[in-house]
Amino acid sequence: MRFSFRRLEKEHALSILRWRYLPPYDFYNFDVDTIQEDLCYLTDPKNAFYEILNMHEDLEGYCSFGADGQVPGGDYCTEALDIGMGMRPDLVGRGHGKHYAQAVVRYGANQYSAQKCRVTIAEFNKRAQRVWQQVGFEQIEKFVKIGTEEEFVIMIYQA
Ligand SMILES: CC(C)(COP(=O)(O)OP(=O)(O)OC[C@H]1O[C@@H](n2cnc3c(N)ncnc32)[C@H](O)[C@@H]1OP(=O)(O)O)[C@@H](O)C(=O)NCCC(=O)NCCS
Repeated sequence: MRFSFRRLEKEHALSILRWRYLPPYDFYNFDVDTIQEDLCYLTDPKNAFYEILNMHEDLEGYCSFGADGQVPGGDYCTEALDIGMGMRPDLVGRGHGKHYAQAVVRYGANQYSAQKCRVTIAEFNKRAQRVWQQVGFEQIEKFVKIGTEEEFVIMIYQA
């Protein structure tokens, strides 16, 4: 599978904001009431969102590199590149996760000269945890997001 990465542009950001995952992954759906705000957030260069395109330039997913991938309450003292990622809803659950994750890690580590990469994942999301484990990430922490009862895990990868 060959992918290319580009800074997330407005048109694709608007598509992503309309993506709808089925429960329990609807946790990752964007809120229809905050589209304008979320559009600004996704396309603000300082949040480092990228679109993931296939060889026909179709949008297949997105990722972020940096603070967007952190969740309040986690321990982020160690220097590492935080990665966030989402694939198009019609592509998930088909066994392709590790190919996307591998491509995202390669691109991010190279682009940001990172020795370590880190992901923070909702504890219930065993599918995502499995994918990151498949590309070499190991769990180092479990915590509760500040102000909620939601549990998250942090996984690290040494490039
Ligand atoms: C997270 C994501 C990248 C995973 O990719 P995917 O293509 O859906 O995952 P896959 O179909 O490759 O499945 C990965 C593994 O999880 C396993 N799996 C699927 N559902 C599972 C479940 N409920 N519990 C445990 N394992 C599960 C699969 O069997 C597979 O393992 P295997 O290769 O050993 O068989 C993708 O689902 C996504 O982008 N989701 C968007 C929302 C999200 O979860 N965001 C968090 C991203 S960090």
